[in-house]
Amino acid sequence: MAKLVICDHPLIQHKLTYIRDVKTTTKDFRELVDEVAMLMAYEITRDLPLETITVDTPVITTETKVIAGRPLGLIPILRAGLGMVDGVLKLVPRAKIGHVGLFRDPETLMPVEYYVKLPTDAEERELIVIDPMLATGGSAIAAIDVLKKRNCTQIKLMCLIAAPEGVKAVQEVHPDVDIYLAALDDHLNDHGYIVPGLGDAGDRLFGTK
Ligand code: PRP
Ligand code: URA
Repeated sequence: MAKLVICDHPLIQHKLTYIRDVKTTTKDFRELVDEVAMLMAYEITRDLPLETITVDTPVITTETKVIAGRPLGLIPILRAGLGMVDGVLKLVPRAKIGHVGLFRDPETLMPVEYYVKLPTDAEERELIVIDPMLATGGSAIAAIDVLKKRNCTQIKLMCLIAAPEGVKAVQEVHPDVDIYLAALDDHLNDHGYIVPGLGDAGDRLFGTK
């Protein structure tokens, strides 16, 4: 089974509290999501391989480390995943971005695909699927399915908040995918919303409600 990592750094937990708060404005919500995404990127890149190169410092020639291995790709699930992309890019600015457009049918809670555009070399990259919310898990599973159909094998999932139901569903269908969260919440309500959660992530990010 792949890893389940809860990024419990105090800065992440502090900012997440204000992300959850219904009184937080759209502007502040967007800024806080951006900041938490950047902090989570520090954790999610912890295992990246390093190689040794030689550089000339002003004082001496020395051996030192740089990131090696596969280049990265970020795969936000539209819409809400977009709110976390810039934060991650602050740490890995050369990553390419692929988009997977999905929305949850409000009746069935099943994901409906409406857009896919991936980097042409996606299968050669280590990919991070990005979505603030992992509720039933249907959207994350569908996005990972899209990537695997394109022969992508190195995939991580990064979400702000998950319900246990969503984590279990992803782990059952995609047991090879490491999951990184800022918080694992209590349960899903009858409408498929995470409790306590933060409400509708897309609406809060884009001010559409
Ligand atoms: C939200 C969220 C996830 C999905 C999670 O998107 O951003 O993509 O729901 O739910 P699930 O785990 O049950 O699939 P939504 O469908 O509201 O679309 P939006 O991002 O366009 O608002
Ligand atoms: N999508 C959201 O935006 N919020 C939830 O709580 C569940 C799904």
